[in-house]
Amino acid sequence: MRGSLLVNRRAVQRFRQLAISAAGSVKIKLLLCCCIAFTVIALASRSSDFMGWSNHSSSLDLLSTPRKGFAIVMNTWKRDDLLKQSLAHYSSCGGLDSIHIVWSEPTLPSDSLKEFLYHILQSNSRDGRRVKLKFDINEEDSLNNRFKEIKDLETDGVFSIDDDVIFPCSTVEFAFKVWQSAPDTMVGFVPRRHWIDKSKGNTNWYVYGGWWSVWWTGTYSMVLSKAAFFHKKYLSLYTNEMPASIKEYITKNRNCEDIAMSFLVANETNAPPIWVKGKIFEIGSTGISSLGGHSDMRSQCVNIFAAEFGRMPLVTTSVKAVDSRNAWFW
Ligand SMILES: *[C@@H]1O[C@H](CO)[C@@H](O)[C@H](O)[C@H]1NC(C)=O
Repeated sequence: MRGSLLVNRRAVQRFRQLAISAAGSVKIKLLLCCCIAFTVIALASRSSDFMGWSNHSSSLDLLSTPRKGFAIVMNTWKRDDLLKQSLAHYSSCGGLDSIHIVWSEPTLPSDSLKEFLYHILQSNSRDGRRVKLKFDINEEDSLNNRFKEIKDLETDGVFSIDDDVIFPCSTVEFAFKVWQSAPDTMVGFVPRRHWIDKSKGNTNWYVYGGWWSVWWTGTYSMVLSKAAFFHKKYLSLYTNEMPASIKEYITKNRNCEDIAMSFLVANETNAPPIWVKGKIFEIGSTGISSLGGHSDMRSQCVNIFAAEFGRMPLVTTSVKAVDSRNAWFW
């Protein structure tokens, strides 16, 4: 113990001497130049990333393009402008095979909306291949609609996304790669966590934690379906196997369908989801999560679902997938 301490101290001393001798030399100037250059490059790449989020589609060309792509399943509600904006963006992303718009509004989609979208897809077609577009019209207005089984889905991969969040194509394509390496897992950009509140006596009371909680602990146990890849089999599982009481609860309270999906996937895999690092651009106004009391409601969902499943299937992890080409120092 003492010996190693001594050695450590000597090493520290030597390092100090080295540092002092370097300070007087030309090396420090070199170091300074490097620092400035790095800063400039970092700033430049940041701003170009930001400016160019809509035409990043060729950035994954150095990796092989997947033979089978993915389908976007987009949930929307009376926000045609957002729907247009986000589909205009995603239709240029590599690997996209088809778009399914989950439509639960009382009126059918307007002709002008349809025309706009078909025009967008036409102008983004590559090698004569056009992204397929389908409106999935629902009579009942329920949040369960977004996970309805899609019978004619040709791809295994589903990218479930809300109409008010935009990710650069490079980010989407990277997440798709991550999902392809773990197709049973849910892979997404918005992590959330749960934990047991010990202060509530001897019963297990779960608490739902938002972004701050994930940031603070570095752990998560769910990724939200507002931006996540999963296998299409989970759509049929959700439609056919999800307990009716949970689906009714979701319809009634207009909340927590994403938590239910996380439960379903975790119950099948006994494994955590995968959080992918990515830039998020929110184009809509503030959503439901900024309303007060939202977190209590979410905690209640976690507890009710856990009781219904007969156990807590969610698994906590701290793993985060990062595109190593964008990692600067390692
Ligand atoms: C959860 O998993 C168990 C064991 O595999 C299964 O029997 C049960 O049906 C699943 N629950 C739901 C709601 O899918």
